[in-house]
Amino acid sequence: MKKGLFTVKNNEELTSDVYKMMLIGDTSAITAAGQFVNIELEGLYLRRPISVCDVNGTLLTLIYKVVGKGTEQMSRMTKGETLDLLTGLGNGYDTSKSGNMPVLIGGGVGVPPMYLLAKKLISQGKRPTAILGFNTKSDVFYESEFRALGIELVVTTVDGSYGAKGFVTDTLKECGDYTYTYSCGPEPMLKAICGATETDGQYSFEERMGCGFGACMGCSCKTKYGYKRICKEGPVLEKGEIVW
Ligand SMILES: Cc1cc2nc3c(=O)[nH]c(=O)nc-3n(C[C@H](O)[C@H](O)[C@H](O)COP(=O)(O)OP(=O)(O)OC[C@H]3O[C@@H](n4cnc5c(N)ncnc54)[C@H](O)[C@@H]3O)c2cc1C
Ligand code: FES
Repeated sequence: MKKGLFTVKNNEELTSDVYKMMLIGDTSAITAAGQFVNIELEGLYLRRPISVCDVNGTLLTLIYKVVGKGTEQMSRMTKGETLDLLTGLGNGYDTSKSGNMPVLIGGGVGVPPMYLLAKKLISQGKRPTAILGFNTKSDVFYESEFRALGIELVVTTVDGSYGAKGFVTDTLKECGDYTYTYSCGPEPMLKAICGATETDGQYSFEERMGCGFGACMGCSCKTKYGYKRICKEGPVLEKGEIVW
């Protein structure tokens, strides 16, 4: 874990309530896709965790949805302003277990960590497929960035206003041979994915957090192998250890 000041390079609206923030700073503690940063915000006691969407040298990309005071404050930030970040938090996804053709499934703001994960898997010579799930057409973001990676991609919307109609699991059931699943999104989605596939996988949980680095036990959750801190031994858990 590292603590450091990051400078906002740009902060743009992707949909009516989802923003992309690019920051410059010391990213050396970030070692895996699926890790997160914890952001200090003015007047708020607890830092706010956001997944790493991409990292390239000193450039860090975050995608966040405005849901409350912290993310609203972030949405008002402009180029040149600074943020205090804890980086390199969480275990992240283990890419050694993926096999050659893993499926990556992101729902809503669970989509961003799948982007760095897809890049990592491609760099290892693997052929990932991504399924990105949204409620409706106006919620869709990052489709062109995923397409630019040249991977198989399916965008789904629950109401059918864009892409494939239905839930990510409807598309997953139609996927041919795949070797592994990686997912991030709301817990009901993760649970549905778990039930829809026999294949092993890793699931990322967005538990409410206190400290974010293993000190307060505020994020403990029960697994088949005892309690684990989602911020430290997670947020990524293996399918076989999850107690739903
Ligand atoms: C490991 C991890 C990675 C995350 N990655 C992302 C990401 O990449 N992009 C993104 O947009 N969000 C992400 N989140 C969720 C994000 O941390 C919260 O939305 C944020 O902290 C809300 O802060 P706030 O001050 O704006 O809202 P608050 O005022 O704190 O809360 C506003 C509302 O959001 C709900 N809420 C807050 N935190 C969570 C949470 N963790 N899970 C579910 N509901 C919550 C509250 O119950 C409340 O209803 C992640 C969370 C975790 C734990
Ligand atoms: S948030 Fe403090 S231990 Fe996880």
